[in-house]
Amino acid sequence: MAGDDRRGTFITFEGGEGSGKSTTAEQAAARLREQGHDVLLTREPEGTELGRHIWTFFRELAATDKTMTAEAELFLFAAARAEHVRTVIAPALASGRLVLCDRFADSTTAYQGYGRGVDLSAIEAANLAACGGHSPDLTLVLDVPAAEGLSRARALEADDAKSADSIGSESLAFHDRVREGFLAIARAHPGRVKVVDASGPLEGVEAAAIEAIERVLAGR
Ligand SMILES: Nc1ncnc2c1ncn2[C@@H]1O[C@H](COP(=O)(O)OP(=O)(O)OP(=O)(O)O)[C@@H](O)[C@H]1O
Ligand SMILES: [Mg+2]
Repeated sequence: MAGDDRRGTFITFEGGEGSGKSTTAEQAAARLREQGHDVLLTREPEGTELGRHIWTFFRELAATDKTMTAEAELFLFAAARAEHVRTVIAPALASGRLVLCDRFADSTTAYQGYGRGVDLSAIEAANLAACGGHSPDLTLVLDVPAAEGLSRARALEADDAKSADSIGSESLAFHDRVREGFLAIARAHPGRVKVVDASGPLEGVEAAAIEAIERVLAGR
């Protein structure tokens, strides 16, 4: 990350619904802890109490079929991120920890930008303010056809009796735009972002993710 004096390493997991972000991040955290790394596994938007309130609010709104504007959605996620960066991520990085974050700023670009059509310059400004100069050393974009990811995520929701949020219940066309958004971000930031084919077995996805993280750690 440019422009700061932190000692830790910041890795983000991005991708559409059901691409395997949470499963892969948990597996990577376990493996890296076994190797002796001091790992903080966190997530957005639920990584702080404020973020959990914002996420609950989203889900409650969806459950009553109410909507909000895409711009309001952008700033709510940015608020969760601003709090998360300053109270959780930055202190962990400053103390030299390895931070694995399940979704981060690229999700806002992909969902509110490519998915909902909010002007990308507004997204960039909101992300800049929210992130306060912190950007990942490595971002893993787990890439899977939107239909496949959605069917995985919905099977999991059925198992957990979880209610879908307003974003998870969007159309397939929306999720296709989100996927294209993540791939466009990867093309624009080839040094930071690695695309992992997440359509195959989970073990292969996890191995590719851990290998990429180890390469970044070895280079620091
Ligand atoms: N490569 C894979 N092959 C088969 N099943 C997978 C694969 N990756 C994930 N799954 C399964 O799909 C479901 C969703 O995975 P997971 O929760 O890790 O995805 P996610 O990207 O975190 O989703 P969300 O965006 O909804 O948080 C889980 O049941 C998981 O076991
Ligand atoms: Mg998840």
